[in-house]
Amino acid sequence: MRNLITLADVTRREIEQIFSITEDLKAKYEAGTREPLLPGRVLALLFEKPSLRTRVSFEAAMTHLGGNSLFLSDDVGFGKRESLGDFGRVLSQYVDAIVVRAKQHEVVQRLAELTSCSVINGLTDRAHPCQVLADLYTMREIHGTLSGVKLAYVGDGNNMARSLALGCGKLGMVFAIASPAGYELSEADREWLSQQVPEAQLIFTQDPAEAVEGAAGVYTDVWASMGQEAQRAQRCQDFANYQVNAELLAQAPGEACFLHCLPARRGEEVTDEVIDGPQSVVVPQAGNRMHVQKGILAWLLGPQTNPE
Ligand code: CP
Ligand code: NVA
Repeated sequence: MRNLITLADVTRREIEQIFSITEDLKAKYEAGTREPLLPGRVLALLFEKPSLRTRVSFEAAMTHLGGNSLFLSDDVGFGKRESLGDFGRVLSQYVDAIVVRAKQHEVVQRLAELTSCSVINGLTDRAHPCQVLADLYTMREIHGTLSGVKLAYVGDGNNMARSLALGCGKLGMVFAIASPAGYELSEADREWLSQQVPEAQLIFTQDPAEAVEGAAGVYTDVWASMGQEAQRAQRCQDFANYQVNAELLAQAPGEACFLHCLPARRGEEVTDEVIDGPQSVVVPQAGNRMHVQKGILAWLLGPQTNPE
């Protein structure tokens, strides 16, 4: 029984296995076949924050795989009616896996320790591993390979930045991050990243132009994440020079793609011109959430599951 709490839970080889299952299932889906690899399997979905992509793509993925998903609304009282241990131990008798989006990363870690089924992180304040697998799969579709490919991230040193840095490091990519002073990935994050992937090629800068130079992909995320709404006005000032606009994108190679995990705040971290422009891949990137999560679910729960 395996979990996916951060990308530290999977090796490079396992990510490649997930991508290979994804590629197969996506090709079959596009040819009109939905291969039922998980008949009778049940996925529970628990969300402490709003979601369009994560919730719907997991539900659709599970349906296509012949399994079922249960969206657990506030009625189940997650974190309110009983202890996390009682909740997790009971729920994991009914379902094969739980996708959980929690305000605090530690809640997902503790749930994974307390349950007997797989736990998948659907976003926390620290990590968004399913998103990053879809992002890197999207770049792999575009470039054919990821090794040595540079991804530039312009913006907040947040859950996305941390997860992208780890994912790029694991897959032999170069990751450059440009953040304003005070919003960088922390020293503790950098230490953790170098422990996870000592050979990672990570570039930390405050200069967006330096980050995007030679990049095959330019990525950004909102300046104020879910839960940081009260800081939004201050952050808009502090990030004003970190917008991905046509001028910045022009400093990347002409074939560079633009990525965003969405939802976007148009006019803040990205202009309409860029997100709707010819280099933007945000729509197929979001579509790949479903395809890659089929790969994750089949890898975690299917017949080829590593029994570790
Ligand atoms: N990118 C992402 O996780 O989107 P949702 O918040 O809509 O799930
Ligand atoms: N950093 C954003 C990502 C949303 C997918 C947030 O946590 O709100």
